[in-house]
Amino acid sequence: MPIASPTTLFFRNAAQLITLAGPPVPRRGAALGELGIIPRGGLLTQGETILGVGSTRSLEREALRRRAEAIDCRARVVMPGFVDSHTHLIFAGSRVNDYELRLRGKTYEEIAQAGGGIQSSAQKLRTTGVASLAQQARKFLDQFAAHGTTTVEVKSGYGLDIAQELKILRVIRFLQADAALDLVPTLLALHALPASFRGRSAQYVEEVVHRLIPTVAQQGLAEFIDCFCDRGAFSVEDCRRVFDAGRKFGLVPRIHAEQLSRTGAARLGIRFGAASADHLDKLSAADIRALARSNVVATLLPGANFHLGLKRYPPARKLIAAGAAVALATDFNPGTSPTLNMQFILSLACTQMRMTPAEAIAASTLNGACALRRADRIGSLEAGKQADLIVLDIQDYREIPYYFAVNHCVLTVKRGRTVYSQ
Ligand code: NIG
Ligand code: FE
Repeated sequence: MPIASPTTLFFRNAAQLITLAGPPVPRRGAALGELGIIPRGGLLTQGETILGVGSTRSLEREALRRRAEAIDCRARVVMPGFVDSHTHLIFAGSRVNDYELRLRGKTYEEIAQAGGGIQSSAQKLRTTGVASLAQQARKFLDQFAAHGTTTVEVKSGYGLDIAQELKILRVIRFLQADAALDLVPTLLALHALPASFRGRSAQYVEEVVHRLIPTVAQQGLAEFIDCFCDRGAFSVEDCRRVFDAGRKFGLVPRIHAEQLSRTGAARLGIRFGAASADHLDKLSAADIRALARSNVVATLLPGANFHLGLKRYPPARKLIAAGAAVALATDFNPGTSPTLNMQFILSLACTQMRMTPAEAIAASTLNGACALRRADRIGSLEAGKQADLIVLDIQDYREIPYYFAVNHCVLTVKRGRTVYSQ
């Protein structure tokens, strides 16, 4: 019986084919700005995989031999799909009330203390069934794809008790079964102290350590374990307990660090060999040096600063100058960063943090892939890697952040399959 050969595609005539070719390790320092651009580029895929990358001309013959289906990129930009390494995709409803309260002068922390914030999201989630959670998330995932993201890390965290956290992680698993994009599940084990544990945070941490983490690990529901280590959230010691427990079950740590205040969270991440430390607004000079010496990816989330209306942004330039591995992500969540548009994150990174457009692209693709420990498979366009790529309706990659807050993406290809086209 003849076996249907997998589809072979030939993407031709890209004005700029941004490859990011190179070893599957995070880009640091000057290398962060090297995109490996091929003018008049072409790319050949077979099934889920990239077969070859080069000038359109150099691939012409091979494409013909393989009877590849040609896709004319019409002198536009082609690049790896965005890797969004920090999202809180699963939540119920929104937090538009908090948003308006903040516009009227209340701060994020004041609203949280008054029972809004994460607590209010948790309350809504508790009374929302898995079908509607999945339905809302699916709608967002379609938008991720439409904006050029091909891999999405997804955290739990709005459960605040064992049953609800498991419910979220099961929704993620359920979504993955038919999602066009790859989802990377993270147990956000410590996010906020549930109201019923007020004044008893040590007990809550014990529950997480002895019941939540073992169950999640045994059921294979998460790959990473995360903690919100900050003023008004959890202490370094609480998070250390949780990472210790996670490590026994093979869950790789990542950490919300130094966002609202400097607590030493980034150092904790370094000590545990975390995949990433995220936010990093309040880093000290010594923290920056320590991160630069480590393999922890410093993931900056300027969408949260923008949405909270903050004047200050994370110290991207200092981190890059010191040699840290800088990544960018949306932090998509209802409280502090309700955007799933990575292109807008690039605009914020450039305009507010003075990253160059090239640095922002590497930080949101290859370095994002490193933050998810997947740089051997995604994050660049090279033979043998997954065919995760996007076509943008621009001629020069710098137009991505320059024309801000619009969607340039016209085609998203995930594992060699079109998942969005305009
Ligand atoms: O990454 N910092 C903690 N978690 C989220 C916000 C959560 C929320 O307010 O719902 C963040 O910013
Ligand atoms: Fe977050």
